[in-house]
Amino acid sequence: MKKNLSTDEAIERWNEHAEAFTAGYTEEGDRSRRILLNPAIFSLLGHVEGTEILDAGCGEGYLSRLLERKGAHVTAVDYSTEMLKLAEAKAPESSGIHYHHGNCENLNFLDDRMFDTIVSNMVIQDLEDHTAALRECFRLLKEGGTLIFSILHPCFITPGSGWIRDGRGKKEAWRVSGYFLEGVYEQAFPEEAENKVVFYHRSLTTYMTAIREVGFEIDEMVEPRPSDELVGEDPEYREDLIHPNFLVFKLRKGKRGISWCPGL
Ligand SMILES: C[S@@+](CC[C@H](N)C(=O)[O-])C[C@H]1O[C@@H](n2cnc3c(N)ncnc32)[C@H](O)[C@@H]1O
Repeated sequence: MKKNLSTDEAIERWNEHAEAFTAGYTEEGDRSRRILLNPAIFSLLGHVEGTEILDAGCGEGYLSRLLERKGAHVTAVDYSTEMLKLAEAKAPESSGIHYHHGNCENLNFLDDRMFDTIVSNMVIQDLEDHTAALRECFRLLKEGGTLIFSILHPCFITPGSGWIRDGRGKKEAWRVSGYFLEGVYEQAFPEEAENKVVFYHRSLTTYMTAIREVGFEIDEMVEPRPSDELVGEDPEYREDLIHPNFLVFKLRKGKRGISWCPGL
């Protein structure tokens, strides 16, 4: 359902939703993160040891912890105080992760060119001003630094999208509709849950326009899918081959050509 919603109300929704949203998380996140998002993000990241990384919209912080375990110096920001509480509680005592409460659209407490890399996992579609958030990332990156961000795939996760099922309830196909109806919508996890958070649906063109406007170069783009190995092991993963749920961008502050990474 389309809504009019202030950022304060969106934050409140995330505060109320923090426990339930992350209840099924392991130290590698939920199912989508384990089989789709993490492999894509880590293959785009490459070597992180000794680098300065910002986890923008860290949530309960699983990705910050994974990055720190790989030797990165991690700063983590989220605007939900409840998410931050979870993240701080889950961090090992020896952790050096710096947590901050803040809105990714304006991180003025962080200095220009502080980071080699920024990762923002499933956050940019949740905030009101995606261009402002991308501009902040650009400001915070060193020259040549990279921003890796994942979002709900704007071409497939649309206001009217959902499964088409056969007479016995088996998932048959994925319906897309309302693609050009940009705006803020409610979303629940699982679908029937009472608590709803919001996401902003934007077309792919809108995202591409903001990326160019801010000055990023597109380095790579990945539509994560389960590995052939996983699909072979368990037929359940075949439904993840029907359509992509996520889109991951690797952007660079500085020049480089686009390359396309199908099937990661
Ligand atoms: C879908 S969760 C993803 C969390 C984490 N990155 C993960 O992958 O588990 C979205 C997170 O973004 C945070 N968030 C949304 N809008 C934000 C904003 N404008 N600034 C900072 N955090 C924001 C929410 O509080 C929530 O923790």
